[in-house]
Amino acid sequence: MKGGDVSSISPLVSFVLGAAMATVCVLFFMSASPTRRLADISAFSSANATNDLRLASSDSHNGVADGNAEETAAAAEVTASPAPAPAEAPSPWGDLEEVLRRAATKDRTVVMTQINAAWTRPGSLLDLFFESFRTGEGGVARLLDHLVIVTMDPAAYQGCQAVHRHCYFLRTSSGVDYRSEKMFMSKDYLEMMWGRNRFQQTVLELGYNFLFTDVDVMWFRDPFRHISMAADIAISSDVYMGDPYSLRNFPNGGFLFVRSSAKTIDFYRAWQQGRWRFFGKHEQDVFNLIKHDMAAKLDLAIQFLDTTYISGFCQLSKDLNKICTLHANCCVGLGAKLHDLRGVLDVWRNYTAGTTEERRAGKFQWKLPGICIH
Ligand SMILES: *[C@@H]1O[C@H](CO)[C@@H](O)[C@H](O)[C@H]1NC(C)=O
Ligand SMILES: *[C@@H]1O[C@H](CO)[C@@H](O)[C@H](O)[C@H]1NC(C)=O
Repeated sequence: MKGGDVSSISPLVSFVLGAAMATVCVLFFMSASPTRRLADISAFSSANATNDLRLASSDSHNGVADGNAEETAAAAEVTASPAPAPAEAPSPWGDLEEVLRRAATKDRTVVMTQINAAWTRPGSLLDLFFESFRTGEGGVARLLDHLVIVTMDPAAYQGCQAVHRHCYFLRTSSGVDYRSEKMFMSKDYLEMMWGRNRFQQTVLELGYNFLFTDVDVMWFRDPFRHISMAADIAISSDVYMGDPYSLRNFPNGGFLFVRSSAKTIDFYRAWQQGRWRFFGKHEQDVFNLIKHDMAAKLDLAIQFLDTTYISGFCQLSKDLNKICTLHANCCVGLGAKLHDLRGVLDVWRNYTAGTTEERRAGKFQWKLPGICIH
């Protein structure tokens, strides 16, 4: 176990502080999802990773509610755009099946992210998200063909359609206005996070595996090769303790793979029931409360992903030769995330232009500290 050093503790502290600050006001991106990486299980050959996609869902506390006041106000202005036409199908999920079918790989896997209007504006997180794929290596850009962007307000849906093929408008009956910021742990916040969780269950019930990613995750290389064939659920770690199957790892739902099966659907059912059993808790907490019982009862393999590869600001991977994804977790505020991720992408660009020798010699390093990254 290598989790005891100071560097792994301070992110925790900042995580807690961050959560407290979010309570006071602004954005809140907390992601809680289980990630496990099985780098040792190279069942996914990197060459054909696209066909091998089978991550599932994650829920994260990052993001949807994120946005500072300015961003949110701007987003609201854009909101005049028309909502997508209601689907003709009687399905309460509209054209979801159609969107999933178009986006999925041959083995019925999609990558999913969820956004609100503030994130679709030029120069906002969605732009950085796309930029990371496009400057990424090993064909990670091909995964964009399998990306479904779930939007929660009409302006975000329209913004999505301007830049991407697979957009889905998630209607909710809860009456929550998803455009605006949600205070951490407010009623609307909980409604939103549980709604996202329920939506992930629906995707599983339709027979699709998904890799849910928050939009503040930069994708530099294909992460699927680090997801075990044996994992029912693979979730990223705020703090990774060294054993991918230890439930002691701190999960982050902002990057979560779930394989569709009777087991994982049962797990989601229990997860949703936990909302009432542990009333007032958010879904990441409930995940932690039920994971031991349910993993044993359902014989569920939950893999926590190694932060060397599936990293974040909480526990930063400094090896650019290994990193696949980088999440702006442990970071509160859209402005701070944008600032630090911009810096990350600039370093990454230089890295991709470097020679093999320069890369091996470790010439390229993240610029530290940023606002959050350290
Ligand atoms: C990936 O797999 C498909 C069939 O599943 C095959 O047609 C294709 O050539 C493979 N691509 C690579 C790069 O191996
Ligand atoms: C990228 O490389 C250029 C040229 O060496 C350098 O001027 C610039 O500061 C580098 N940018 C970053 C973010 O390291």
